[in-house]
Amino acid sequence: MKDVFILAIESSCDETSIAIVKNGNEVVGLSTNTQIPVHEKFGGVVPELASRMHTENILYVLDDLLEKTGFNIANINAVAVTCGPGLTGSLLIGIEAAKVISYLFNKPLIAVNHIIGHIYANQLTKALSFPTLALIVSGGHTNLVCMKDNYNFEILGSTLDDAIGEAFDKVARVLGLKYPGGPNVEALAKMGNPTYKLPIPMNNQSLDFSFSGLKSGIVNLVHNEEQRNKEINKADLACSFQNIAVDEVIRKLELAIKKTNIKNLIVAGGVSANGYLRTKIEELALKYSVNLGIPDLKYCTDNAAMIGAAAYYLYLKQDFSDLDLQPRPNKSLN
Ligand code: KG4
Ligand code: ZN
Repeated sequence: MKDVFILAIESSCDETSIAIVKNGNEVVGLSTNTQIPVHEKFGGVVPELASRMHTENILYVLDDLLEKTGFNIANINAVAVTCGPGLTGSLLIGIEAAKVISYLFNKPLIAVNHIIGHIYANQLTKALSFPTLALIVSGGHTNLVCMKDNYNFEILGSTLDDAIGEAFDKVARVLGLKYPGGPNVEALAKMGNPTYKLPIPMNNQSLDFSFSGLKSGIVNLVHNEEQRNKEINKADLACSFQNIAVDEVIRKLELAIKKTNIKNLIVAGGVSANGYLRTKIEELALKYSVNLGIPDLKYCTDNAAMIGAAAYYLYLKQDFSDLDLQPRPNKSLN
């Protein structure tokens, strides 16, 4: 079969990212402009600023990609874009850019679900084997999924309240750490010990998650200690939180492995960059002789290469979109 080159665009949140991906698993080139230094000043993503910066930057990112790869855009087979979930205004900029490229170069347009993109980031590191369990740990989602084949998702468990990344971000804010919270909580946790007693998430046999009790426990603890003028050991608190949150994910993952007896496991989403989580998952995979895939660190957080990887299977199915494609800010996995 002839090689397939997909130009992929990701702009769902605060990264303007464009990639060219060959056959769904080889990154020909990737260019990303991150808006973190701007949003950092506000303690989180400001949607209006995000979409304005996507507008300002997207052509520069495209130019940079084409210049450094030397790739002729007329030689792509299709253009793919994240259609949701994400911020409406941010998604819109990527979608409009993709439509223009699709129209001008007469190439099919492929709409990709952002979460499915995170799953297929694995394909850039190691080929997927089916059936596989997929653990999704991101800013907006925490799911345990069974994939029997490409684009076949059965949700085994979900968060009943906050996503794990959301909990990391909230704890970061309470501890006075900068946005994005997750990596900063991890860095601080490395300097501490798990000394704080915090609410343990629900200890049942379901595969659902809950992080709001743990999150509120930390908010209340910090508030109470402040009222009593007592010093908080922030590194110990960050470490205590990270251990409890990650250990809970590991416990549910172990339960899923035992329940399903599936011997392949992949991990997806921004929190999969967390070193403590990566180590714990590696230990678990070893214990149950599970074939483990975790994306390279550079493909864990938002990037367009993962969108190009996920788009490849839609390309093979000729699952194309029309030029009236609209953002789907609340799009779910299925
Ligand atoms: O997967 P992602 O892009 O979010 C969604 O698509 O929803 O990941 C962003 C999330 C944020 O909550 C961020 O704080 C978290 O991933 N994150 C981390 C780390 N790196 C990113 N959380 C914990 N440890 C990290 N090293
Ligand atoms: Zn993401």
